[in-house]
Amino acid sequence: MRICIVGAGYVGLTTAAALADFGHEVLCVDMEESKINSLRQGKVPIYEPGLDDLITKNVKNNKLFFSSLVEESIKEYPVILIAVGTPSKDDGSSNLMFVHRVIDVIASTTNVYKIIITKSTVPPGTNEWIHKRLIEKGIDEDLFDVVSNPEFLREGFALRDLYHPNKIVFGTKTSRPIKNLKKLYYRGKAPYIFTSLTGAELIKYASNAFLATKISFANEMARICDAYEVDYDDIAKGIGTDPRIGRYFLNSGLGFGGSCLPKDLSSLKHSAVKKNVETKLLDAVREVNDTQIDLYLNKLTTELPDLTGKRITIWGVTFKPDTDDLRSSPAVMMIKKLLEKGCQVHAYDPMVQLELTGVYSHTNQYESVKNSDALIISTEWQQFLETDWAEVKSRMKGTIVLDARNCLDGKLVRKFGFLYLRIG
Ligand SMILES: NC(=O)c1ccc[n+]([C@@H]2O[C@H](COP(=O)([O-])OP(=O)(O)OC[C@H]3O[C@@H](n4cnc5c(N)ncnc54)[C@H](O)[C@@H]3O)[C@@H](O)[C@H]2O)c1
Repeated sequence: MRICIVGAGYVGLTTAAALADFGHEVLCVDMEESKINSLRQGKVPIYEPGLDDLITKNVKNNKLFFSSLVEESIKEYPVILIAVGTPSKDDGSSNLMFVHRVIDVIASTTNVYKIIITKSTVPPGTNEWIHKRLIEKGIDEDLFDVVSNPEFLREGFALRDLYHPNKIVFGTKTSRPIKNLKKLYYRGKAPYIFTSLTGAELIKYASNAFLATKISFANEMARICDAYEVDYDDIAKGIGTDPRIGRYFLNSGLGFGGSCLPKDLSSLKHSAVKKNVETKLLDAVREVNDTQIDLYLNKLTTELPDLTGKRITIWGVTFKPDTDDLRSSPAVMMIKKLLEKGCQVHAYDPMVQLELTGVYSHTNQYESVKNSDALIISTEWQQFLETDWAEVKSRMKGTIVLDARNCLDGKLVRKFGFLYLRIG
């Protein structure tokens, strides 16, 4: 198939590379000319394991192309896959400005049949609105099919998820596009889930809301374990073996962040309230998450009551390991709070040099702890799990290690003379 993917971000770019690798002709377009220019020069603007090689291979094979000519590209291709951003507005609802812009271009250029696939996460009702909007703009219903095809990939595992999805969700209005949709992805053993346009949109929101709920549940349990001096890891292990519960997303720590869970939770709440549905559970999930950072800071101040002027080193600034994504990163929020308290903050991340006023960013993990009063692990990069603690001890001034991702072997860290702190 000939596919035009609109948006060369984390989702658009990884999907473009994978679809080209599955044998389609893919043109990935973005309104940011600099992004397209660097892609054309072989520079991938985001970090995702394996992506550079996959892009290089498929560009070489003449399967993958890039363009900043959005209108011309949309006009030319029979399948349009929308992967633009849908960030939060101040009131928590989704800002659909970028989606609307793409739809207006489609409306003004469509004169032969097109399949329009929305991969961006959009609130319930958006794809119905797209269908209506195209008709209002004078496009005959025979000339298009709108498909809701939410994305479930995880940054850091995006290619693995695209090659081994656990499901493929398509929301359609009629069965007309289904035959073509079945040719789109490498399916493996994944089931297709066919539903309505709005049903598909809600599968995505329900999925992210459930994952967020699991994390907040884990964090609340860790608080209770902490009070009873019980190791929360035992609880996670104990309940995670039950297949009805599952071990994934039961880790406690600084809470969820990133470009999806916080914004999708807010958007879902907004959609519910719009229809007069109360969201007590979702509100509680958010509340637990919003208080995690302060809880960890309280843990720190029990040992270091006056943080003014203290030199604190943070390891990990991305919202999770194996990505360079800083959007809604709990680590960055933590850093901002430490700065407000007058700390001298030093940061090290294997992928990102944080540019934030008042923060000293380091390129060497061990250099970053020199003379520090405390070390905080805020993202569980593999590198941190393999730390040479003797080296850290010899460089630090203080002895506090606050494990805000509950990812270290506490016994081991203590052996080197550290005061190891965590919640649960
Ligand atoms: N990042 C994830 O892990 C993830 C996972 C699942 C779903 N999603 C959803 O996928 C969507 C995209 O997320 P992302 O993280 O890839 O966003 P992103 O911000 O990384 O990329 C979006 C890209 O779209 C481009 N763009 C915006 N409007 C455009 C237009 N009119 N024409 C051409 N290009 C345009 C932007 O320049 C940007 O490069 C969002 O709705 C998000 O919620 C993201």
